[in-house]
Amino acid sequence: MIFTLTMNPCLDRYIYIDKLILDDTIRAKKVKDYPAGKGIDVSRVIKELDGISIAIAILGGETGDRIERMLDKEGVIYSSIRVENETRMNIILESDKGQYRISMPGARIRKKKLNVVFEMLDALVRVGDIVVISGSLPKGIKPETYFEIIKLLNNKKSFVYFDSDGEKLKSGIKAGPDVIKPNKYEFSRLIEKEVDESNLKTLVKDGREIIKRYGLKEILLTLGSKGSLLITNEEAFFSSPLNVPVNSAVGAGDSFLAAYVLKRSENKSVLEAFKWANAAGNAAVMTPGTELCRKNDVLDLLGKINVKRIS
Ligand SMILES: Nc1ncnc2c1ncn2[C@@H]1O[C@H](COP(=O)(O)OP(=O)(O)OP(=O)(O)O)[C@@H](O)[C@H]1O
Ligand SMILES: [Mg+2]
Repeated sequence: MIFTLTMNPCLDRYIYIDKLILDDTIRAKKVKDYPAGKGIDVSRVIKELDGISIAIAILGGETGDRIERMLDKEGVIYSSIRVENETRMNIILESDKGQYRISMPGARIRKKKLNVVFEMLDALVRVGDIVVISGSLPKGIKPETYFEIIKLLNNKKSFVYFDSDGEKLKSGIKAGPDVIKPNKYEFSRLIEKEVDESNLKTLVKDGREIIKRYGLKEILLTLGSKGSLLITNEEAFFSSPLNVPVNSAVGAGDSFLAAYVLKRSENKSVLEAFKWANAAGNAAVMTPGTELCRKNDVLDLLGKINVKRIS
């Protein structure tokens, strides 16, 4: 089974208006909500691509209820750790001038609830299962938490994908996940130097040092509109993006990771899974807002993806 873990989910509320005017009533033309949070995104894309996963998420209050209902509607299986505090919401005002993003403060999580996360993972995950750990941590939870979670999962002999940033990534990687999926900025903070995306050889060299140091199997390094790299100890591939209409790049990395995880779980080679990942990442930018990739777009793009071996 594939599990995803979202410790800090949120609801993205897009409010479409003409103009933001001070001291006047602004009538919204349309309001659209999307369940968000990186692990939840991964589970939704796996479902879109006809796979099955279980999304483990910390959810609270009415926003938590709404996310559950949205997942129910999409047929995404989930197991929530319910907390009293409301799950956070992002308000995105889409106006004639562009986007205003307002991020609400997230709720603090108690230590007792954090223990439930460990208990749930311990109860559900079996040898050989796949766990995708994505995103940030709620207030009150220390960055070393991912280190402890990955240690637990390694003891259970599951296969761990890890997609996080900053101190959380630096700490969690020490527990030895199997695969990481940093973007350019996350990778740069991890290796503590500037990343030059045109110098693929150096990126592969830096990636292999990280692989060796932490005992990883693969690194999926996404470079936004510049493409992506798959780095293993023995092989490295690069893919440049297709010329697709760009609508919104939000969630491209999650779509990319989801397709890769799903195809690897179906025993496809790293190269084949990498092609799917790029098709899903490219397809995700074609959709508006926080919408993820659509299956038909992924299938359309799949045959057109070009991959170059670099070593
Ligand atoms: N402008 C773009 N045009 C075409 N493809 C893109 C573009 N931006 C992203 N992609 C595709 O999506 C992949 C992932 O993008 P990116 O590196 O931005 O991920 P990310 O920063 O982790 O995204 P997020 O965390 O918001 O989901 C890229 O490797 C590429 O395949
Ligand atoms: Mg990302």
